[in-house]
Amino acid sequence: MKKALALILAAVMMMALAACGGSKSGEKTLTVATSPDFPPFESLDGTKLVGIEVELVDAIAAKMGVKVEYVQIDFDSVLNGVQAGKYDLGMSGISVTDERKENALFTDPYCLAAQAIVVVEGSDIASKADLDGKSVSVQTGTTAELFCNENGYKVSSFAANSDAESALVTGKVDAWVIDDLTAAEMVAVYNQNAGTKLVILDEAMTTEPYALMTKKGNDQLIADINKVLNELVADGTVAKLFEKYGAPYTSPKQ
Ligand code: ARG
Repeated sequence: MKKALALILAAVMMMALAACGGSKSGEKTLTVATSPDFPPFESLDGTKLVGIEVELVDAIAAKMGVKVEYVQIDFDSVLNGVQAGKYDLGMSGISVTDERKENALFTDPYCLAAQAIVVVEGSDIASKADLDGKSVSVQTGTTAELFCNENGYKVSSFAANSDAESALVTGKVDAWVIDDLTAAEMVAVYNQNAGTKLVILDEAMTTEPYALMTKKGNDQLIADINKVLNELVADGTVAKLFEKYGAPYTSPKQ
């Protein structure tokens, strides 16, 4: 039901946008694809898109004098759609990797994140080494999925992050691998009401910088965004956004 309603709403909004040409005052509109299942970077508060990256992209657009239209889709579709040029920009806590750089362009990174291992309290998995031969849940298309496949774990992939979490909670997998700050937020929310708690291991899997992504050839857009993005990093706006969302900020320049 909810999904159907969301689809109808999306269709109505698209028609409204088409009707006014998407740019009332001749202002340019950037279409930004996002998977809002990734707090504190992008998530839904009711139907409102909130998070560090939402405010960051809004600030970038304001400085550039362009408008933003957000499109909500699964993470995997963000990567594919942006690469194909269906959307101008991908905003989804996207980690910069050499592999992705072969098919897309990235802005400068604005923070550093890590992949965390989440288990159920009392689990015999206490470190990365304990994970050998175990089963893990991940989100489809993520660096977590890539890393876990490369390291020979039994991987179950889910389009939505919440389903990857459920797989752990219901005992279908031994661990859930997900970006550290999102793990912290989702585990804190889960543990508020849960009998059996979730635990984030101290040892992280990898560290990865986050950036915004566009298709190959969009070099001018990258240059324009980098200019304002670097100002927002340098003047402390980005660090303040992390603070606002209660997340520790790690600069990409380590
Ligand atoms: N940082 C990871 C990656 O780039 C996961 C990002 C997931 N993002 C999301 N909005 N669900 O693969």
